[in-house]
Amino acid sequence: MEQTFIMIKPDGVERGLIGEIVARFERKGLRLTSAQLMQISNETAELHYGHLKNKPFFGELVDYITSGQVFAMIWEGDEAIKNARALIGATNPVEALPGSIRGDMALNVASNIIHGSDSTESVSREIALFFGKERVAASS
Ligand code: PPS
Repeated sequence: MEQTFIMIKPDGVERGLIGEIVARFERKGLRLTSAQLMQISNETAELHYGHLKNKPFFGELVDYITSGQVFAMIWEGDEAIKNARALIGATNPVEALPGSIRGDMALNVASNIIHGSDSTESVSREIALFFGKERVAASS
């Protein structure tokens, strides 16, 4: 059993897509163990995207993720990280296949509606940042 961290970004929340996205994860067979609608601070955004500090789009990314409420979630199940990323689709919605969340619901990389952790290290770091260290499973 593996944990993953998933976050519906402000445009996904604003467009009323929480229900449909959660339904897709549930239908896949993953289990929701925590969820929180929250406004994240600039400090949290800069920590979350710290590895992208030198990218030209870093400022835009921080502005976007702090522009409204996000829906942060912890999901668990077999191969949860890879299964969730397959449901989400490619980072750039132009390349995301129809049937994936970004392929069906987003138009461009600057507002791609959802984030999913890409490794066990990022799961641990991101769950600790958004939900507290005590929520990180021993196996993560
Ligand atoms: S990279 O460049 O390969 O390191 O980045 P990548 O792993 O593809 O994406 C990391 C996050 O950066 C976001 N991103 C962007 N935001 C705004 N503008 C542009 N051009 C852009 N390119 C990438 C991308 O959506 C990823 O966000 P998360 O929340 O991690 O999915």
